[in-house]
Amino acid sequence: MDFIDLKTQYRRIKPSVDTRIARVLEHGQYVMGPEVTELERELAKYIGTKHCIAVASGTDALLIALLALDIGPGDEVITVPFTFFATAEMIALVGARPVFVDIDPRSYNLDPAKLEAAVTPRTKAIMPVSLYGQCPDLDAINAIACRHELPVIEDAAQSFGATYKGRRSCGLTAIGATSFFPSKPLGAYGDGGALFTNDDHLAQLCREIRVHGQDRRYHHPRLGLTGRLDTLQAAVLLAKMEIFDQEVEARIRIGARYTELLHKTFGASPDAKVRAPHVEPFNACVYAQYTIEVERREIFETRMKALGVPTAVHYPIALHMQPVFENLGQAEGTFPASEAAARRVISLPMHPYLTEEQQQKVVQAVAEAVA
Ligand SMILES: Cc1ncc(COP(=O)(O)O)c(C=O)c1O
Repeated sequence: MDFIDLKTQYRRIKPSVDTRIARVLEHGQYVMGPEVTELERELAKYIGTKHCIAVASGTDALLIALLALDIGPGDEVITVPFTFFATAEMIALVGARPVFVDIDPRSYNLDPAKLEAAVTPRTKAIMPVSLYGQCPDLDAINAIACRHELPVIEDAAQSFGATYKGRRSCGLTAIGATSFFPSKPLGAYGDGGALFTNDDHLAQLCREIRVHGQDRRYHHPRLGLTGRLDTLQAAVLLAKMEIFDQEVEARIRIGARYTELLHKTFGASPDAKVRAPHVEPFNACVYAQYTIEVERREIFETRMKALGVPTAVHYPIALHMQPVFENLGQAEGTFPASEAAARRVISLPMHPYLTEEQQQKVVQAVAEAVA
């Protein structure tokens, strides 16, 4: 069994992928070719924003958003300690200070009740993460941000295709940043990412920063990077968009089926031996990861491996405990919900082509592994 099955998906879309790639090889515009513009148009329409800026990775999307908002040394950006490293890494890389706010232990997302206390005169932005494929309570976060006149950057690397109160992730804040890493809900055949905004000025800055800060050829009013999405990756993503709605539906159905099977086996209480993920009623979750909580995770992991079911831990160390962030001076115990999640979470195989039989096999293995 695969943790993520990209081969089945490729067999399904092979004619379209192959044709689109061949077309790029024929026209030869490997950098900023017509497929990039076509993809940006299509993704902006899908999310419902005025602008989409395709970039080289989710990490570059975060970096470009921070640079476009002119965030740097002396500034603070509020985020969560329970996320992939890149979220806080990019804040620190531009010279700003990541200020952590603990997560809600049920959704694993930023707890809006703890947010306002972290705002200081140095705060320049709030960067919540839509972890595992569902959004935090963005209306609550946007309202606090609005009171303090702060932009919100949604780290939507894991939530492309998800909805919050019926509206699409990536288009719910001042700027949304997503990733097209191959294992993401919409994945390229290599690295990729995108930014989404309705703000014309911010979009223009992102476009300039994506190409060395140039506003016209060899004229640079600001600094930037080589942050473009490859034309070949845009071609792949256009092919994948043809089936994306069906894949999102499948993800939602498969996630719900996992939860039903786990609840049947272990009960639905938050203290159950195995805790299934909680999706907030206002969310449709795309399950970039289907992540459960167990006791004694290392033993569980070893047993699952022996039973032939791959698992992965997203993420084993809360970011305030990472060696590089020791200088922030936040000792163990500062963010108890994030630390508890980091000790207990483990992700099960998840992709849109998982069969009911495979899911039953996984849940059977979970039952044996926790015994
Ligand atoms: C929450 C989060 N932020 C940022 C990133 C970075 O994206 P990429 O790997 O495309 O650079 C990821 C990717 O794993 C992620 O999960």
